[in-house]
Amino acid sequence: MKILVAYASAHGTTGEVAEFISNNLAVYGADVVHKAVETVESVKEYDAFILGSAIHEGIWLRNMMLFIDKFEAELAQKPVYFFITCIRIAEADGYDHVMKNYMHAPTLEKLKVRNVNAFGGAIQLKEIDWNERWTLGLRYDGTNLQSRLNADYRDWYAIGAWVTSIAKDLAIKPVMSA
Ligand SMILES: Cc1cc2nc3c(=O)[nH]c(=O)nc-3n(C[C@H](O)[C@H](O)[C@H](O)COP(=O)(O)O)c2cc1C
Repeated sequence: MKILVAYASAHGTTGEVAEFISNNLAVYGADVVHKAVETVESVKEYDAFILGSAIHEGIWLRNMMLFIDKFEAELAQKPVYFFITCIRIAEADGYDHVMKNYMHAPTLEKLKVRNVNAFGGAIQLKEIDWNERWTLGLRYDGTNLQSRLNADYRDWYAIGAWVTSIAKDLAIKPVMSA
């Protein structure tokens, strides 16, 4: 089975999550490729898709939307799974809030996404410019922004568990070496 893990990432965090997902899926003998969405030229050759975007200003990155617009007909014919990375999830009501506010239901329905998940992301102030800081400060919809900065909220165990559930859904089994 050939699987594409396609990600939209502004600062690399989501790309690393995609790489981790890809490495995890390889255990199941899947032929997995992880790529930034803007570098994907064709999706015909894949049997399943895991799509992931960072959240900026409460929405998916533009490159993810462009990718979906371009390939939606082909994506919808195969199993699709979707995740986001964000920092709002680290607050007390985080998971429910981001699942309700950061997921665009019409797009997920259009692609017939089988499973959706949200994971903590990471942010380093030194890596974001003043324009981004301004945007983040102005548009962030949580209450406790300062303590959310310069932190890595990625829960690799939760991401790994999600990959296991995807493998189960795709009915692929671990490949044992002889
Ligand atoms: C300009 C900017 C805006 C952001 N807006 C939000 C937001 O609205 N809600 C949120 O939870 N996280 C927000 N974040 C945090 C990112 O979603 C998080 O850091 C993510 O892991 C970044 O992924 P990336 O490194 O792949 O770009 C924002 C980050 C930046 C730089």
